[in-house]
Amino acid sequence: MTTNFYDKVAKKFGGYAYGKSHVEHLSKYPNGDPEKIFKTKLLSLAGKNKIALDAGCGDGKFAFQIARHFLSITGIDLSKELLEIARQKQKILKTKNVTFEFQDASKTSFSNKSFDVIFSRRGPTPFSEFYRLLKIGGYFVGINIGEQDCQDIKEIFGRGQGFGQWNNSRLEKDKQELKSLGFEIVFTQNYFYNEYYSSYEDLDLFLQGVPIFEDFDSKKDKKYLEKYVSKFMTEKGIKFPRHRVVLVAKKPNK
Ligand SMILES: C[S@@+](CC[C@H](N)C(=O)[O-])C[C@H]1O[C@@H](n2cnc3c(N)ncnc32)[C@H](O)[C@@H]1O
Repeated sequence: MTTNFYDKVAKKFGGYAYGKSHVEHLSKYPNGDPEKIFKTKLLSLAGKNKIALDAGCGDGKFAFQIARHFLSITGIDLSKELLEIARQKQKILKTKNVTFEFQDASKTSFSNKSFDVIFSRRGPTPFSEFYRLLKIGGYFVGINIGEQDCQDIKEIFGRGQGFGQWNNSRLEKDKQELKSLGFEIVFTQNYFYNEYYSSYEDLDLFLQGVPIFEDFDSKKDKKYLEKYVSKFMTEKGIKFPRHRVVLVAKKPNK
């Protein structure tokens, strides 16, 4: 994950485009909507006395949404542009219990045992740093990109985020790493589902704002996108298979 990409997206769309440009698409979730499940798990661990860290907070949209459930949330990110947008939003929203800091999640300046809950919403997951930062009995809650996310389009493009890692289970890798650090695994689940984009233009716009191909270029990649669209056009729209991993882990009381 490079930060320049997010600075570029912030300038272009005035925020993190995944939610901002929000092109119209239908999603079908065979085993539940992973975003909703992630949020439900996170809020089940919230409380008016709980201090949370949002690792890779982006433009802060999600932190603002859930701020009232926590005593405080600190959002950290490596994109100065996105942090600036988050601070501007804060002035408008007047949310007092969220603060934003430019910090690398893998080597933060926070003291040991600073947080009750750490969450990462498609952000960085340096688990050893999270272990250090969590209070005893604290939780990590994450939703992240699975290894089979958008495999078909990446194969047609011959590149992309996690290209060729289709058989390296993100869930298993994260689980093993968490366990080896001393975390107790509370919940892990893979979610495979399809999004459907209504037109070539919608999918093109979507790809400009997400890191699936950080170097996506509407003109240069036209031949690939056309090939994908003709192959995956269905009566519901252009099929776009996604893979998410939701994970909850606890720093045990021992
Ligand atoms: C896919 S975006 C998600 C943003 C936000 N969590 C959301 O749900 O909209 C990932 C974010 O993680 C940030 N990021 C990546 N690596 C980071 C790191 N090591 N430390 C802090 N932030 C990081 C990026 O700058 C980007 O804003």
